Amino acid sequence: MYYKKHVFVCDNIREEGERPSCGRAGSPLLLAYMKKRLKELGLKDRIRIQRSGCLDRCELGPVQVSYPEGIWFSIKTEEDAEIFLRNYIEKENADSIRHLLLEDEN
Ligand code: FES
Repeated sequence: MYYKKHVFVCDNIREEGERPSCGRAGSPLLLAYMKKRLKELGLKDRIRIQRSGCLDRCELGPVQVSYPEGIWFSIKTEEDAEIFLRNYIEKENADSIRHLLLEDEN
């Protein structure tokens, strides 16, 4: 795998009245924050964080998925994003981000 971790952040936006969407749940601002902090932490060369279209877990959004592990997250705030970046991305400590994980069957 080219990147050590490759994180997809759904930022799909649906019209009001349609099914919920990550874009309406604040995902674009979170994505911008995560990309900015990734660069500031000096992790940009090894880690890729990028936007994605709908990942079909819309009601749980904003949602993100990280490969190669295939681990799903629901990071909703900048504080969540900071915990994710500092612990899961930088230190590879999955225990400290359990509260951000989505179960496979949700
Ligand atoms: S809109 Fe994000 S998972 Fe569907």
